[in-house]
Amino acid sequence: MRFLAHTECFFGKSRYDDLHSALGNTITGTGIALIDTAVVDSAAVRDLLSQVEIHFGNAIPVSAVSVLSEPTYDQLDDLAALVRQSDPSFILAIGGGSLLDLAKGVAVLLENPGLARDYRGMGLVKKELRTMICVPTTAGTGSEATWTASFIDDQTRIKLGINGPNVFPKYALLEPALLVGSPRKVALSAGLDSLVHAVEAVSSPLATPPATALAVKAVALITKHLPVALNSEEEDSWSGVQMGAYLAGLAMLNSPGGIASGVSYPVGTQFHVPHGFAGGIILPYVIDFNTTRGYRGYELLNPEMGSNRTFYQQIEELYGILNVPRNLSEWGATGEPAIRTLRELTLNQRSGSFNYNPIPFDEADLNSLLHLICQAD
Ligand SMILES: [Fe+2]
Repeated sequence: MRFLAHTECFFGKSRYDDLHSALGNTITGTGIALIDTAVVDSAAVRDLLSQVEIHFGNAIPVSAVSVLSEPTYDQLDDLAALVRQSDPSFILAIGGGSLLDLAKGVAVLLENPGLARDYRGMGLVKKELRTMICVPTTAGTGSEATWTASFIDDQTRIKLGINGPNVFPKYALLEPALLVGSPRKVALSAGLDSLVHAVEAVSSPLATPPATALAVKAVALITKHLPVALNSEEEDSWSGVQMGAYLAGLAMLNSPGGIASGVSYPVGTQFHVPHGFAGGIILPYVIDFNTTRGYRGYELLNPEMGSNRTFYQQIEELYGILNVPRNLSEWGATGEPAIRTLRELTLNQRSGSFNYNPIPFDEADLNSLLHLICQAD
């Protein structure tokens, strides 16, 4: 049994001082800030840059990056070619999960020769990525603390990753001010993503005590703070959601995702459903499937949620409050053609995720699940 955690993470009141003392003299020379165009001009990002630049004594050159919701290997190669020209000594990455993944890919390619596709898979990155500080502007993927960076192959439309021990970012900084005022849909999708990570980390047959403990706490934080945060500018609530997503990311890193995570990939690549909504829409159906077949592991989550109703009932209530869609009709994935496509893609690409469900799950069960998520409103 093992527990992985490799990224030094800074949060709370002393975050900038702690980051400053950790950096010490480890980073010298000129770096580059890769910042999502969606946030590059925000006051919160400007504040963050000035805080971080105090350590370096001068401004960090900024490159605004326009990020596709699912970055591709080609986009990574283009950006890496650009950044290789200035060969920065470190990368400060500020953005959502897709921007962080893209920046992690660039940091890998600054230390390893060749093209992005050369490193597609697990453990193919030979040299540790260039030093980077990951600063998430959404609370969802947990990419700031994990060893994965996901990309879509443009030709095959298959989503795969550049993954392994040399892909962990060295530093992460959690700044809740960056989340305040996020577009509701973006924040909700991210929140659902983190919920999927945490719940499936608990129910995974490979769950370990430390991963489960993190996931239980993550579910408590997300379910408590997300409904408040989505309707307020209150930094404490956003901070709670952010910590929940971070812990969920660590839990997922140590306890592989199940059906909702697995099926969310073809749903995302084929119908352009944001990753968080894809997994989030599937999740209650998986919880119901497992609970009605006698799985009791979700009970671990009930005391933290402060109710003696079943976890499934509580998730149903939460989804009602958050107004989460219950099917994929908004994205045009309805009826037999969608079901057929998703069945084929899931069986070809993601059937391994079936092994991470606590109750046996087969092709017929997938079929029933797809009928539920592809029903019309
Ligand atoms: Fe995810």
